[in-house]
Amino acid sequence: MSKVGEETDFGFERVPLADKQARVDDVFGSVAQRYDLMNDLMSGGLHRAWKDALVTAVNPPLNIKPFALLDLAGGTGDVAFRVIEAGGAGTRATVCDINPDMLEVGRERAIARGFDQVVSFEQGNAEALPYPDRSFDCVTIAFGIRNVPRIETALEEAHRVLRIGGRFLCLEFSSVDVPGLEALYELYSFNVIPAIGRAVTGDREAYQYLVESIRQFARPEEFAAMMRAAGFHRVSFTPMTGGVVCLHSGWKL
Ligand SMILES: C[S@@+](CC[C@H](N)C(=O)[O-])C[C@H]1O[C@@H](n2cnc3c(N)ncnc32)[C@H](O)[C@@H]1O
Repeated sequence: MSKVGEETDFGFERVPLADKQARVDDVFGSVAQRYDLMNDLMSGGLHRAWKDALVTAVNPPLNIKPFALLDLAGGTGDVAFRVIEAGGAGTRATVCDINPDMLEVGRERAIARGFDQVVSFEQGNAEALPYPDRSFDCVTIAFGIRNVPRIETALEEAHRVLRIGGRFLCLEFSSVDVPGLEALYELYSFNVIPAIGRAVTGDREAYQYLVESIRQFARPEEFAAMMRAAGFHRVSFTPMTGGVVCLHSGWKL
């Protein structure tokens, strides 16, 4: 529950905490059909390499050993499909996302790839997961956490549904820390991305929010502290591509 008057960031705007989720849902409802194409266009395909690094860290077993992945804010299923491809016959993935339009695109993609028996798409809020305690071997969230209004609550939920010995992995945009690249990245983010967004999805505002929300997101050390506060151990993070993204890791021990 949010307290009366509590506010949060929606990109560079301050909005009532209780209003943020609806605004985020509008963004992803609007871009769902073109979401995957836009990821490739905006990142020049780099999001594939970042997701591959995430999947390497997930490290699903290659044999028939059961392995249950929960991919939070999993959208159109990209991470779940990659984990299934990397894992053995015992690997299963649940994609949980709050947005029905993103999930519908994901279900169609799963059928097209023959993954519909091993990946399930379920609507749910990362702040109140519809799963019992200790039900997953690994929980991932890629480019999702910054969109969730109550990040601390979502981290506690991720921790709750992980089994003891399970790993939480979060891929998220971060703070560029390479001199020179910073200015270039800024220029690209605020000028090129919203323009591509308008051309491809017809929704410039959605992509303006996405780049602003990247800027507003916690620095890696700050996010690591939030993970520890939620109960994770052996918390670490690995910046990639000069800090454009960061892979955060924590264990439930
Ligand atoms: C940038 S997309 C990432 C999708 C996917 N993980 C990927 O990397 O391609 C962010 C996703 O977060 C989802 N999302 C936002 N708020 C959420 C919440 N409270 N609970 C679950 N999913 C949420 C959105 O619906 C959207 O699908």
